[in-house]
Amino acid sequence: MSNKSQFERRLLCIGAGHVGGPTMAVIAARCPRYQVTVVDVNADRIGAWQSDALPIYEPGLLEVVKQARGRNLFFSTDVAQAIDNAEIIFVSVNTPTKTFGEGAGKAPDLQYWEKTARTIVEASRGSKVVVEKSTLPVRTAHAMERILNSNRKGIRFEVLSNPEFLAEGTAIRDLESPDRVLIGAHETPSGIAARDVLVEIYSNWVPRAQIITSNVWSAELSKLACNAFLAQRISSINAISALCEKTAADVSEVSRAIGLDSRIGSRFLNASVGFGGSCFRKDILNLVYLCESCGLQEVARYWQSVISMNEFQKTRFVQTIVSAMFDTVTEKRIALFGFAFKKDTGDTRDSPAIAIANKLLDERALVVISDPKALANARLDLAGAPAGRLLFEESPYQAARGAHALAILTEWDDYRTLDYRSIFDSMEKPAFVFDGRNILDHKALHAIGFNVFPIGKPALTHL
Ligand code: NAD
Ligand code: UGA
Repeated sequence: MSNKSQFERRLLCIGAGHVGGPTMAVIAARCPRYQVTVVDVNADRIGAWQSDALPIYEPGLLEVVKQARGRNLFFSTDVAQAIDNAEIIFVSVNTPTKTFGEGAGKAPDLQYWEKTARTIVEASRGSKVVVEKSTLPVRTAHAMERILNSNRKGIRFEVLSNPEFLAEGTAIRDLESPDRVLIGAHETPSGIAARDVLVEIYSNWVPRAQIITSNVWSAELSKLACNAFLAQRISSINAISALCEKTAADVSEVSRAIGLDSRIGSRFLNASVGFGGSCFRKDILNLVYLCESCGLQEVARYWQSVISMNEFQKTRFVQTIVSAMFDTVTEKRIALFGFAFKKDTGDTRDSPAIAIANKLLDERALVVISDPKALANARLDLAGAPAGRLLFEESPYQAARGAHALAILTEWDDYRTLDYRSIFDSMEKPAFVFDGRNILDHKALHAIGFNVFPIGKPALTHL
């Protein structure tokens, strides 16, 4: 790590994950005058950030890291020293759903967050600004402040909420040109001063009009609400897709017609096999728990239904596969194209593919998984699968060879342009395609000879 004095500001991020790494890399690349350090307790992760084999796959990330690493971007496991050196500390540790005790299965597990707060108090010798980047329940900043400011060293911490809205696969683009940056601060002189410093940091590359400020609790709640609204759109269109399949309506046509209403807008209306990722489910559960804790049972049930619809969509997809394939998939080879929760990432956290693969394994199918970036994670996710009934293939062509069916679970661009005639020729007959992302040319597949089952559209069959 370099000498304190050579930089205009000293920024630290605790947590070198999907948010901490890319966010700090972009800040460092855009602001060469600032020292930006990222620390983590996971030494393997830090080692990977120091190499060219980064710990996460994100288009454009390596280029941004290389631009700043060693110049003003540093990765380290020396958390205490980095805290002491820093002026502004972003906290971007994981906040998964609690799996034990009170609130298990709903409330966020704040143990990593609280440990970080205590480490900051211990390691600090001067006052600092602490910025919440992790997604947290409303009023977490209050708990953070109480831990931080209960110190007996006479130092003061100002806590800001600056939730992150990046999406995986487009993280660099989202960070470089965000729709908005949200900064929540207390309306006190020290709160306003801290907020102004953070505004100034982002102003290095984000237009001032897109940097919005609010009180701390609004910022915390806005993050949960934003993810809940996004997920709600997907559950809404997926609910309509189920109705389309019963009525011969076409969900793409319905989605287009809805989306052209400028009050609704066209994005996030792609029917799918269900939403996944590390946050939608976790953050809605967090919101549900918060509502229940506030005695708002109706509101809690409203948001819970977004998750229930998502579960229904995954179950429905497998039911369609089984019923189309003559009510049994036992011993049938089924190739899953895609395992990541969305394209352009190797992340499989809460991927719908996990639930679908497990349901097919329960039906005693032989499941073959292919994915350009997520095979290593898929192996870990399905480590408990029965021996001999799960295979992994780099090549989708090999995965499909001898299969009775293939199912598209991730919308990787590569899958749009495969040679489906040769895939068809290599498969058992009758051959089935279940397009869980509606990315293929269904008429062309039908003409080749496939029985095609899209989401929310009439099936095209030869049976
Ligand atoms: P992640 O699991 O990829 O990374 C978190 C990192 O924090 C891990 O490397 C872990 O080792 C480290 N960590 C945990 N406790 C620590 C401690 N005490 N000291 C130092 N390091 C510690 O998580 P993520 O996906 O980056 O998410 C982080 C937060 O950001 C979560 O609250 C999440 O909800 C939120 N978020 C995530 C995304 C996303 O796309 N993944 C987007 C917006 C917001
Ligand atoms: C989401 C939000 O988009 C980010 O703004 C937020 O910061 C982030 O969660 C977070 O808090 O972690 P992410 O989960 O990375 O980002 O990816 P999305 O693009 O939102 O996709 C989530 C899931 O919804 C994926 O499984 C995707 O395939 C699915 N999806 C998305 C659909 O099924 N249909 C759509 O129309 C859009």
